[in-house]
Amino acid sequence: MSQAWWKKAVFYQIYPKSFNDTNNDGIGDLNGIREKLPYLKELGIDALWISPVYLSPQVDNGYDIADYRQIDPMFGTNQEMYDLIEEAHEQEIKIVMDFVANHTSDECLWFKESRKSKDNFFSDFYIWEDAKADGSAPNNWGSSFGGSAWSWDDSRQQYYLHYYAKEQPDLNWENPMVREYIYDMMRFWKSKGVDGWRMDVVTSISKDLAFPDNPRAFTTENQQNGPRMHEFIHEMNQEVLKPFEMMSVGESPAAKSSDAHLLVDPKREELDMIFTFEHMHVDRKKGDVNGRWALKKMDLPQLKSILASWQIELRDKGWNALYFENHDRARVISRWGNDQKFRYQTATAFATVLHGLQGTPFVFQGEEIGMTNPKFELEEYEDIELRGNYQFYVEQQKTMNKEVFLAAVHKISRDNARTPMQWDASENAGFSQADPWFKLNPNYPEINVENDRKSEQSVFKYYQALIELRHNEAILTEGSFELLYPEDEALFIYKRQYAGKTWYVVANFSETKQEIPSEVNGLTGKIMIKNNLQRAELSNSLAPYEAFIIEV
Ligand code: GLC
Ligand code: CA
Repeated sequence: MSQAWWKKAVFYQIYPKSFNDTNNDGIGDLNGIREKLPYLKELGIDALWISPVYLSPQVDNGYDIADYRQIDPMFGTNQEMYDLIEEAHEQEIKIVMDFVANHTSDECLWFKESRKSKDNFFSDFYIWEDAKADGSAPNNWGSSFGGSAWSWDDSRQQYYLHYYAKEQPDLNWENPMVREYIYDMMRFWKSKGVDGWRMDVVTSISKDLAFPDNPRAFTTENQQNGPRMHEFIHEMNQEVLKPFEMMSVGESPAAKSSDAHLLVDPKREELDMIFTFEHMHVDRKKGDVNGRWALKKMDLPQLKSILASWQIELRDKGWNALYFENHDRARVISRWGNDQKFRYQTATAFATVLHGLQGTPFVFQGEEIGMTNPKFELEEYEDIELRGNYQFYVEQQKTMNKEVFLAAVHKISRDNARTPMQWDASENAGFSQADPWFKLNPNYPEINVENDRKSEQSVFKYYQALIELRHNEAILTEGSFELLYPEDEALFIYKRQYAGKTWYVVANFSETKQEIPSEVNGLTGKIMIKNNLQRAELSNSLAPYEAFIIEV
């Protein structure tokens, strides 16, 4: 069998609201994506993952879907979506949509019917439970957006479960009708030409129906890897993914390198790839009462060891999805690098170590020009997660004060990645003629696509070159992997080997010069890519955030 197309592909994620606005209402749209296809083609990417564009009240920016078969008028029409798919295909760009099937919007017809009574067709489409004798919620499960995961419904006189906002009720996958409705929706989009799916929190779809309390109230440990998860995913594979040859990448917050193969081993026929969260937690104080807002300094040896263990564990047992950024993550150069003095170097250093690995790289819009986190005031943010968590940790639980919370927001909040795309230095960054739905990063007159592409130090050109390497060099997709100097606090160095070739991927993740360690010192060969124009061969020392790949 020929190799799966997505193994040599580089993906680009679009967050449509913030990408490109063509009808000047301040909100990015489908025609805005179409207009930028030539730009994306120049970058060299092979496929787009488009965050949700379906009909939605936008409580969670589209991750609350009211109708899976309808494009939200805010983004355009169904016909415009079909045209986008067709035009992308003409340019040999595949389209992957976002599958949000752990929950719907409370404005979805299914939920509106379900809440009416206990005995209509949709009654069991969601997870309904009676109150405890004292009227309280069935258990102490928490919502990811703060507070309880249960909300009381007056009309039905029961609680319903929602792992996210109360406007995002969780679907009941135990009900075969729910699964059939979902599979049918997937076939519908297949018939329109969609090539695959990014699957939103797909590892949450099965719930422990005994509803046991969590060890700590309002935490979310219960949310992942429920008892029938593999069974449901396998069924979806058999019903849709396999027969219709649709590619899949599942969001899998709890997967570890040791058990990831259970989801992605081709023999098991579940998913093609998963997005792990493990490597993104290397700046988190584990087990802290303030959850993901409790930060510490990024631990480079830990980052290396996690990435390395995924490389090794999934070798011949699955395929990695590689990323540092997406719409739920901060800009990596602001979070773990230096986005001021060494912005170009940090951006390209992170890109080098990620794109040098085995797997399929995902680039998030703006990452390819080194966009940075904004530092807004608390009131200027939009994200429901941020607001809900502020209420919970600062106002209710009082385990953080506002300043500490805001400092964490500046580092890791999801809104960091959601400011409008910076195309040029004109008003509103060329994103829109109108005031955008969310504030622009004030640095857009300096950091934007147009400036970057003109610059000698162009992040865009560096990504272009990396993507070209991936397309041309089998060693990147096929080669073995070996991590060198795992304990080193500043250097990230690894070796790839394939068919008689040896490559070293080398990066300095510190702001000071570093000596090149003995094993790689003095090697000569061909530099495949570098972010320091002076670099000729492997010798001497590495400049701050210097990175390169050398074939020896
Ligand atoms: C996923 C999405 C995130 C969303 C959540 C609920 O984590 O990536 O943006 O808020 O699921 O759908
Ligand atoms: Ca618009």
